[in-house]
Amino acid sequence: MSDPIRISRAATKKPKPKDSELTFGTVFTDHMFVMDFQEEKGWYDPRVEPYGPFPLDPAAAVLHYAQAVFDGLKAFRGRDGQVRLFRPQKHVERLIQSSQRLCIPPLDPDLALKSLVTLVGIEKDWVPSTVGTSLYVRPTIIASEPFLGVRPAKSYIYYVILSPVGAYYPEGINPVKILVVDKYVRAVEGGVGGAKTGVNYAASLYAAEEAKHAGFTQVLWLDGRERKYIDEVGTMNIMMKIGDEIVTPPLSGTILAGVTRDSALSLMRDWGLRVSERPVTIDEVAAAARKGTLEEVWGTGTAAVISPVGELAYKGERLVINGGRIGTLTQKLYDAIVGIQYGTAPDTRGWTVPV
Ligand code: COI
Repeated sequence: MSDPIRISRAATKKPKPKDSELTFGTVFTDHMFVMDFQEEKGWYDPRVEPYGPFPLDPAAAVLHYAQAVFDGLKAFRGRDGQVRLFRPQKHVERLIQSSQRLCIPPLDPDLALKSLVTLVGIEKDWVPSTVGTSLYVRPTIIASEPFLGVRPAKSYIYYVILSPVGAYYPEGINPVKILVVDKYVRAVEGGVGGAKTGVNYAASLYAAEEAKHAGFTQVLWLDGRERKYIDEVGTMNIMMKIGDEIVTPPLSGTILAGVTRDSALSLMRDWGLRVSERPVTIDEVAAAARKGTLEEVWGTGTAAVISPVGELAYKGERLVINGGRIGTLTQKLYDAIVGIQYGTAPDTRGWTVPV
């Protein structure tokens, strides 16, 4: 049996933004969930407390060697008023897998799920209701031990913060322009690309900034060894429709096991589509674009859900996809996932957890 969750309420409440003013990840709610780990005690003192900074020793391992993991999921307010978390168990599972790769002691999955449901329950009023808005949930674990040697830390903090959000990309569901980079890579085989850890995002910044300066929304990452195979798009998994085949790179360790990726694949398989998780080269994609068989390209991720790609730029060539418009399948997937998230379509797979 784990410790009961202590709850201390904030003395004052912050004003809540209007749904129409929501951006991504700039506003935080009144409370957060916190739990500590010490080698002798294990995980202890799970609690909800007022949102705010916590003291961290300047020597804390996370600040020096980036021993940390996080995850990201969402709670939605349906048209029926019901708040639902989307696939929280799957996110907990991934947080624990990421922890294992970063030598962070695993959370008890039941307690982790309870931390999410409890905190979102307390902050229910913060869940916005317009379609396209949600409450983003950010569980995080950081190594807090003050120690400058390089080895797994002996103390950690697990915390969960909440942020009411709108669209991740200003483009919303409109297609984005993507630059294919072969000068930089995000991850290499045997590295930490498959774990949700901050270093992957830090490693992506330089290339993403270069792409932005050149007028693109994000980059498409190629594999670290040959710079030939497609890995991910920005912070998202990538899928494409080439003729009648839907192709997405396999989970080989360099890319993240996206929950939206998994959701999209299972929906498309249920719809009887030919779905392949297989290596796909940028040359194959470029050839398909030239031939006119690259029908649709989209990214999948929790933050943006489904983000259509309207253009890929590779070695100076512009590959325009579906005339720069969202494709039929991309739209169908978006509608299907969003329908389940907001409770307007039946959740036959048990993906949502009511709060
Ligand atoms: C996602 O949910 O798609 C992401 O990985 C982006 C997040 C790091 C803001």
